[in-house]
Amino acid sequence: MRMPFIAGNWKMNTTHVEAESLVAGMLGGLEEISGVEKVLCPPFVSLPVLNRIVRGSSVKLGAQNMYFEEKGAYTGEISPRMLAELCEFVILGHSERRWYFGETDEVVSKKVRSALEYGLKPILCVGERLEENDAGRTKEVVDRQLRSALKDIDPCPSLVIAYEPVWAIGTGKAAGGEQAAATIRFVRSSVAELWNRDIAQDLRILYGGSVTGNNIAEFIRQSEIDGALVGGASLKAEEFLSIVSQTAAIKGS
Ligand code: PGA
Repeated sequence: MRMPFIAGNWKMNTTHVEAESLVAGMLGGLEEISGVEKVLCPPFVSLPVLNRIVRGSSVKLGAQNMYFEEKGAYTGEISPRMLAELCEFVILGHSERRWYFGETDEVVSKKVRSALEYGLKPILCVGERLEENDAGRTKEVVDRQLRSALKDIDPCPSLVIAYEPVWAIGTGKAAGGEQAAATIRFVRSSVAELWNRDIAQDLRILYGGSVTGNNIAEFIRQSEIDGALVGGASLKAEEFLSIVSQTAAIKGS
């Protein structure tokens, strides 16, 4: 049994004051929902304040990125050692990092290894661009990203993978539930080849890309899909609560 998992990626939104009121508006509601792992990923500067607010609750925190070195002369970067005091998860290889900030498969791979060394649980994002999807290259791209990110890494049940087709992120054009499930089935089979079948069966694999309160059920009803990485809709307390509670209801039934 895989525990369903919903993470809110706030991206570069909310000042720390706004973050405090956003979490205050959803914490009580989130606490009432059980059977789903609930993770909020605010900007770095809001991690300390959220860490104080959610402490003792069932809500967990994640960062949106990190550098792979522990410390040193890397102006502007945040290390896994810094994050380990503040959060449990870290999103790595998000397509906005890959495409706006030039993160290569190799850099993502170093980050995954480093996060695990410091006890952080990576939420590893993979996904194809529109032209790759149109050319029928989805599996090839996702497989390459996975193999590169996980090479030389020991099988690790705490890893979470998010399949996020780049063309679906922030566009309002979500993938179809069956389409997403088919790719996620493929992701699981790649992990089984890379690691082993048992680990692959235990890993949580999420869908991400324009998930809302209106379409979450379509994804969650697929047994292959264990949850969602939610961007825009995670910035609205009521909608995020609706996504989490629908997930609990559908997966729990
Ligand atoms: P979106 O973003 O839900 O706003 O499409 C998802 C993501 O980038 O993780």
